[in-house]
Amino acid sequence: MRIGVLTGGGDCPGLNAVIRAVVRKGIKAHGWEIVGFRNGWQGPIENLTKSIDLADVEEILTRGGTILGSSRTNPYKVEGGVDAIRETIAENQVDAIIAIGGEDTLGVAKRLTDDGIGVVGVPKTIDNDLGATDYTFGFDTAVHIATEAIDRLRTTAESHHRALVVEVMGRHAGWIALHSGLAGGANVILVPERPFSVDKVVEHVERRFESEFAPIIVVAEGAIPEGGAEVLHSGERDAFGHVRLGGVGQWLAEEIADRTGKESRAAVLGHIQRGGTPTAYDRVLATRFGLHAVDAVAAGDFGTMVALRGTDIVRVKLSEATAELKTVPTERYEEAEVFFGA
Ligand code: F6P
Repeated sequence: MRIGVLTGGGDCPGLNAVIRAVVRKGIKAHGWEIVGFRNGWQGPIENLTKSIDLADVEEILTRGGTILGSSRTNPYKVEGGVDAIRETIAENQVDAIIAIGGEDTLGVAKRLTDDGIGVVGVPKTIDNDLGATDYTFGFDTAVHIATEAIDRLRTTAESHHRALVVEVMGRHAGWIALHSGLAGGANVILVPERPFSVDKVVEHVERRFESEFAPIIVVAEGAIPEGGAEVLHSGERDAFGHVRLGGVGQWLAEEIADRTGKESRAAVLGHIQRGGTPTAYDRVLATRFGLHAVDAVAAGDFGTMVALRGTDIVRVKLSEATAELKTVPTERYEEAEVFFGA
């Protein structure tokens, strides 16, 4: 058999660990040939391939990014995209595809399966917002990076008696903000799921300023102030047509400075959260996902995705995985809110 593998969407630490597991098990246990498709769905559309052998995955376990490259190309938005994929598959004699990606990549995987192309999905995203799996790899690494940044920002904030607003990724879900904020002992955590009151944030900040410690506010890039204040968010285009990195963090830092009369600074962590070597947890999860994806292909169980449930890796329908975004539930947010303003 010849199996195609691709990585789509925003990259994240652990992608190479999945590729390595797929290649090693596919070749050693099944004698398959593995065809890498470059740059997500762009690879099968444009017939961009790279054959991968055991030697190619020898040293990639710890490497961030993806040796296959990635893109956000969606064949259903490209004219003739799906037909082009059929041609590539026929030309390369590929029997099935393992697609490693987030909501968009897996949504395509589901539609392709419905259209008769055998695909098995592997969930990835630093945002941890995919339904049907308890965790995605990449999230743990992002939380570690953000937590370390908060620890570092705290000492400089304290030295200068400043408020520090730390903007982390998460346009639609606040998982990174919630976990790094809890781990970093933030005084306020703001997530996209719940519009925030600037008055309340300022109250917490002022109370914190009464102590000798600095107020630390962790804000997800997609968090929105109550009352619809005009805030340009990360990912949006500014007046020059440039895609913004960061927005709400800087806006909030300025509001805090204006309202409290105290110094305030913002730090946007951006793509640092997606780069570099994966944590041990993410390496293990990614490897297990890769091994189980091979099992799913061997069983001909297409239209499925591997997922983590508790400590077990299970298979779920791709339709279930892409049905809705997994956002931070109210109880989890209220759990964290207990510490605000302390
Ligand atoms: O989905 C992963 C993610 O890192 C989000 O947290 C972030 O909003 C987005 O990708 C950034 O995308 P890009 O790399 O295209 O700017």
